[in-house]
Amino acid sequence: MKNNIEQKEIKRWWEAKRQLRWDNIYKGKNYAALKLNNRMNKILFYFNQLEKKKINILELGFGGGHLAYNLIKKGHTYKGIDVSSNLVRAAKSRCKNLRNRNFSFLCKSIDKKLKFPNNHFDVVIVCGVMQYATKPLFTFKEILRVLKKDSIFICAQSNFIVLRNFFNFRSLINRVYCLFANEEYEVSNSFRSLLLETKLKRNFKQSLKKKIIESKFCNKYFIKVNFKFKKRIIFPKKIISLGKKAGFNVTKIDSSGPFFNIGYKNKLALFVSKVLQSMTNIFFFSFLKKVNNSFIIIFKK
Ligand SMILES: C[S@@+](CC[C@H](N)C(=O)[O-])C[C@H]1O[C@@H](n2cnc3c(N)ncnc32)[C@H](O)[C@@H]1O
Repeated sequence: MKNNIEQKEIKRWWEAKRQLRWDNIYKGKNYAALKLNNRMNKILFYFNQLEKKKINILELGFGGGHLAYNLIKKGHTYKGIDVSSNLVRAAKSRCKNLRNRNFSFLCKSIDKKLKFPNNHFDVVIVCGVMQYATKPLFTFKEILRVLKKDSIFICAQSNFIVLRNFFNFRSLINRVYCLFANEEYEVSNSFRSLLLETKLKRNFKQSLKKKIIESKFCNKYFIKVNFKFKKRIIFPKKIISLGKKAGFNVTKIDSSGPFFNIGYKNKLALFVSKVLQSMTNIFFFSFLKKVNNSFIIIFKK
């Protein structure tokens, strides 16, 4: 029952007009564009390493279809599912000029059984979607089922703890607490959310809760959400553990930047971020991957 309500609310969230921003989010010079392009390019880099030239791909949660466009253009066979009918339309429109290619975009949820046969795809991609999965292990097992033997599953996600969190007191406290307390869902960086929306809320009487709600100090960074779901907390260890539980082997752990909250225009910070990024390839500095903006895990069936 709880899952059903969450699933309906997640769909309602993604059907909202404002989510059409995902159609243009890769354009521009801001932080979101930099982060998403870096992540997409990393995924394309791993595709280019594959020996097979015509790859049968499934993507779950394709957004505006930016990665899809690049993969279809290369001649791969592509199927995508996404819960938002608006984004399905956007992705179709983005790819409408790619003629004589084999692709389709379907409006479906990753919480439901995938309507594809066993051992069907060469690669499954999930990029920035697992925070919305109401049954993550079920989804991973479905991915395993539809993948051919020895094929790969690329899971790329924003990291819960990133370097820039260390420069914001509330954000750091929030993240450290959530990890230690093994909280399942994200809350805003305010003390109000931390105290009243996590397991900590059990410790407060009604009168104290009222005081917290009224406190200016506790309300700083508070975000009121009018949807009955919360995003799942996602970090590499959690995704690796899910993958192993589902029956995958891990073959590669990588990350993409930027390390800071910057766009393309901040040349100096961009340069430092790129230096840190190349350092992640040196064994001694590989811990930096753990605080990079996004992580990319490649599993093998
Ligand atoms: C953060 S966006 C990422 C989009 C794209 N993968 C990218 O990286 O540009 C999340 C996407 O997942 C889709 N999504 C969220 N929950 C979903 C669900 N339960 N089933 C299928 N798609 C879902 C959303 O509609 C949205 O397109």
